[in-house]
Amino acid sequence: MSYDLGLRLLAANQARRPDTFTLLGDTWDLLPGVFSPVYDASTRFFTTHLPYPPGGTMLEIGCGAGVTAVTAARICAQVTATDISAAAVANTRRNAERHGVADRVDARLGDLFDAVPDDARHDLVFWNSPFIESPADHAPGSDLDLAIFDPGYAAHRRFLERARGFTAPGGRVLLGFGSLGNRARLDGLAAEAGLTATGFATSAPDRDVTYQLLELTPRP
Ligand SMILES: C[S@@+](CC[C@H](N)C(=O)[O-])C[C@H]1O[C@@H](n2cnc3c(N)ncnc32)[C@H](O)[C@@H]1O
Repeated sequence: MSYDLGLRLLAANQARRPDTFTLLGDTWDLLPGVFSPVYDASTRFFTTHLPYPPGGTMLEIGCGAGVTAVTAARICAQVTATDISAAAVANTRRNAERHGVADRVDARLGDLFDAVPDDARHDLVFWNSPFIESPADHAPGSDLDLAIFDPGYAAHRRFLERARGFTAPGGRVLLGFGSLGNRARLDGLAAEAGLTATGFATSAPDRDVTYQLLELTPRP
């Protein structure tokens, strides 16, 4: 069922492509091939509930159209935003320009942390992840596919292994997850990485789907 709903979300993202959208009181550019935050409530919920560090630094993995990165840059001193999709990086840069925070948003192309210097440390590390686990025979067909599905949770595994290494003392790692995700599998991968996933905030149901911000902390 999660897979079918994911395929429907993918189809909506592919079929209807406005050039702009309105969210959280602002208008945003949307480039072709970039995850659109209007077909589900994840971006809105996570962007509203993240604990942005005032005057601090944030690393956002998977920035998409840039709504969260731009919102963070209105509160943080510096936001580094990465995405595996070149179109998403261009989209985040465009929305940072549009909203006057381009000097505080450094958008970079790369797989997870690959474009981030190894010695960079952040007060908040966050990923609104593609939390629907697709079957092994699901071949990603496009960048948009990777915005929704993570085959075998391979990217989640790598995120869990590395994320805490990019936090400053006292820094936090939050993962944007949802009820369409495989929580048992995520918890298993977190344990293997020496982490515990604890609920930080949970949304009201949106068409039977809920979204969760999970905080990842070292296991005692
Ligand atoms: C659910 S979308 C969220 C996009 C945006 N943050 C938002 O909330 O609207 C997930 C994002 O993660 C990106 N992504 C997927 N796999 C990635 C990887 N291995 N490294 C970096 N970004 C990745 C996708 O391209 C997509 O932009």
